[in-house]
Amino acid sequence: MNSEWLASGVATMAASLQGSSILAIAAQVRALVAQGHQICNLTIGDFDPKHYPLPDRLLQGTTDALREGHTNYPPANGIPELRKAVQHMYKARLGWEPKLENVLIAGGARPVLYGCYRAVVNPGEKVVYGTPSWNNNHYTHMVGGVPVEIQVGPEDNFFPPLAAITPHLRDAALVVLNSPLNPSGTCIDPATLAGLCDAILTENAARQSQGRRPLFLCYDQIYWMLTFGESRHADPVSLRPAMADYTVYVDGISKCFAATGLRVGWTVGPPPVVDAMNKVLGHVGAWAPKAEQMATARLLDDSASTDAYLAFIRGAAGARLTMLFQRLEHLRAQGYPVQALEPQGAIYLSAEFALEGWSSGKKVFHSAADVRTWLLEEVGLAMVPFRAFGAPHAPHWYRLSVGAVGETELSAMLDRLQAALGTLTRPA
Ligand SMILES: Cc1ncc(COP(=O)(O)O)c(C=O)c1O
Repeated sequence: MNSEWLASGVATMAASLQGSSILAIAAQVRALVAQGHQICNLTIGDFDPKHYPLPDRLLQGTTDALREGHTNYPPANGIPELRKAVQHMYKARLGWEPKLENVLIAGGARPVLYGCYRAVVNPGEKVVYGTPSWNNNHYTHMVGGVPVEIQVGPEDNFFPPLAAITPHLRDAALVVLNSPLNPSGTCIDPATLAGLCDAILTENAARQSQGRRPLFLCYDQIYWMLTFGESRHADPVSLRPAMADYTVYVDGISKCFAATGLRVGWTVGPPPVVDAMNKVLGHVGAWAPKAEQMATARLLDDSASTDAYLAFIRGAAGARLTMLFQRLEHLRAQGYPVQALEPQGAIYLSAEFALEGWSSGKKVFHSAADVRTWLLEEVGLAMVPFRAFGAPHAPHWYRLSVGAVGETELSAMLDRLQAALGTLTRPA
């Protein structure tokens, strides 16, 4: 068998689709752990159930629903109980009520994202998003879109400023935003989002009068109930109700309820787009399992249980992120070229380790890769560089995820970091 020849049978799009670079880092971490290294693994965008158990309502509810016989296909657009539960939750927690026809259930947020790109973007059309961001490059590639990437940095909280987006609106098919943002753990400023909504509404008024296709906003708020301190989640329709016609929300239980393995997500969006997504995802078979849908409906309908769980998970993730932030700030105050952004949402902290030019005695760090390798091998600190989120322009910035670590482990790593930094020599 000639495997090269067989590989030539893979279609161009799939052959040129990149796998996740985070998985490559995870493999490197696993190899070090297997060799006996003590690693504090902050690379995982998932939850360890030891630290973040499922809400009881989901665990018990799924088991009950399976025993009740909910083991067959759900309706393609989701069970009515869950679509209504999403409708009521948005009314109660966001302050506006989608119609039932606006709500579509799917097997997690990924199919929703894929379905949105598929439903809106024709080959050759432009998709606008900031970098760093999560997987927009891959979704754009899969639909044959043209990426318009706006490079953003810490000075903008890692969100594209309005002035950087608006020049691209005229000929774009889709703008994609995610807040709280993976990888940075920052939230979009409501004034920036309101400004963008106004610009999209103005653009669409012009397009309608010219008979051109509308511009849509894909708004990924999968982490929206995980905010910390003074940070508040902002969303387009709360700020500008007219945006209901143009916003495709991406949402689900994966992150706010530590339920990544249950595969329940949903969109709320304009019916023509939602109907098209339903057709695409129906053919893929990307619906959420029926028993998990039943359990999710029961959880969301029980606002006391939901509130209690959210208080728990915000407390658990918030305590870890705050510890990391404060200890890194302490290092900065000691004069090390280390800094972090105050945690605002999600389960991530943005941190910079600008140690290029410093020396460990054995080696001078010539690149960001040298620094990352030293932090991994000498400190046992595993993080994902923003490069893996399409941001080589922020070479020393990293995503630190607290989904799979306890506070004791974090504190021990921070002690190791403090000690290891003390052994380094500054550039002359
Ligand atoms: C911003 C963002 N959107 C969507 C997803 C996908 O979520 P799901 O596991 O529900 O597919 C993730 C997962 O990491 C994410 O970080």
